[in-house]
Amino acid sequence: MAKQKNVFFCKECGYEASKWMGQCPACKAWDTFVEEPALKIKGKIRGTALLAEPQLLAEVSGAENSRITTGFQEMDRVLGGGIVIGSLVLVGGDPGIGKSTLLLQICMKLTDKKHRVLYISGEESLQQIKMRADRLGVFKGDLLLLSETNLDNIEEIIRKNKPEIVIVDSIQTMYKEDIGAAPGSVSQVRETTSVLMHLAKGLGITIFIVGHVTKEGVVAGPRVLEHMVDTVLYFEGEDKASYRILRAVKNRFGSTNEIGVFEMQDKGLREVLNPSEFMLQGKPEDEPGSVVVASMEGTRPILVEVQALVCQTNFNMPRRTAAGTDYNRVNLLMAVLEKRIGIQMSGMDAYVNVAGGMKINEPALDLAVVLALLSSYRNLALDEYTICFGEIGLTGEIRGVSMAEYRVIEAEKMGFRTCILPKTNADNIKKTGMKLIGVKNIRELSRLFT
Ligand code: TYD
Ligand code: MG
Repeated sequence: MAKQKNVFFCKECGYEASKWMGQCPACKAWDTFVEEPALKIKGKIRGTALLAEPQLLAEVSGAENSRITTGFQEMDRVLGGGIVIGSLVLVGGDPGIGKSTLLLQICMKLTDKKHRVLYISGEESLQQIKMRADRLGVFKGDLLLLSETNLDNIEEIIRKNKPEIVIVDSIQTMYKEDIGAAPGSVSQVRETTSVLMHLAKGLGITIFIVGHVTKEGVVAGPRVLEHMVDTVLYFEGEDKASYRILRAVKNRFGSTNEIGVFEMQDKGLREVLNPSEFMLQGKPEDEPGSVVVASMEGTRPILVEVQALVCQTNFNMPRRTAAGTDYNRVNLLMAVLEKRIGIQMSGMDAYVNVAGGMKINEPALDLAVVLALLSSYRNLALDEYTICFGEIGLTGEIRGVSMAEYRVIEAEKMGFRTCILPKTNADNIKKTGMKLIGVKNIRELSRLFT
């Protein structure tokens, strides 16, 4: 008998190598290589389309009207305006974050509207899915359920039942018999996804794949298949917070900046259509170190509180932390404060936090971070009806940011009265009920605060 040939895969990104390596040359992750049997490709490789003839661009039928709305506005926005027929969507996230719940609720909404949906679970029995479904509400339509992990059977059932939408929960439990590796291994995950891709494109059905993000163990993470699917969504949330954020990381049919906000309740997920209100819940009043920023998430402005705490250090090396934003950026802004205004930051501990567990990496956050630091350092609270946004450069100049008008409108809607913003932006906003304070540099900003 011929000796079984083994290869090594990076379980983070799927990079293949003939020998074990400590660090993956592709994604630079450490200690991620696992040994698996080499893939043997039997038969010929199938193409994605059924037609092998070239077609004229003008004759290819348009796809704009071929979107299905999920019934969740937040989900539709993240998908770029609804589900695209024949697409392959990966929904990734930590175990227990609510992926199965989200997709089952979408199934409920879709079957209500008479779409044919098949939900395949490799993790839960039919009884368990039924229990969860009962918790979520009343399913008026007909939802097809299947508890199966063998992909050959699944393929047959999909071809027979011809559903419009299929959910595969999760890809790490699926396997193809002719691959000699365990379910969840890099080769199984890759191969099963490629079969699902051919099914989606060939039959024109939309397939949602659930993928668990895994930190340890030999199970391959969703990054292995990111490049194979049309859309990659990640479902994220803090451990203790009840809200969840759905974020598009890749989208062949829409923008990747959009987020959808949900709240996990005892009867499943609820959409949060006004995230600003949600994020500002529990904001302290008249406390130094608390500032509200108008940040853009895709096309939607969201108001978020930024907090800073600056105090004398007890150590030789001051402690600095940044939660919810870039640590290096906060350090840089502190250096700018020190150099341009002469505040002795080097002897100070500083903790910066974006409240509510949001992650913001937008330059417009700079001004809020600096204001929060100044406010805490001088122990002076900012007026509670004031918001701000703006980018800060290395010379302390305050630079304009995009979509200033949207930010101001959102702030006004939420009851704010004053906005501190870059001078260039302030000059361009014509009509608003807000008091606009345009600032050119960090010195002007500091003078607002004495
Ligand atoms: P689940 O969808 O099973 O997570 P995943 O598929 O991403 O692993 O979500 C499980 C968690 O959600 C679990 O901790 C219980 C909680 N949950 C609620 O709080 N309310 C609900 O109505 C449901 C169905 C789940
Ligand atoms: Mg699940």
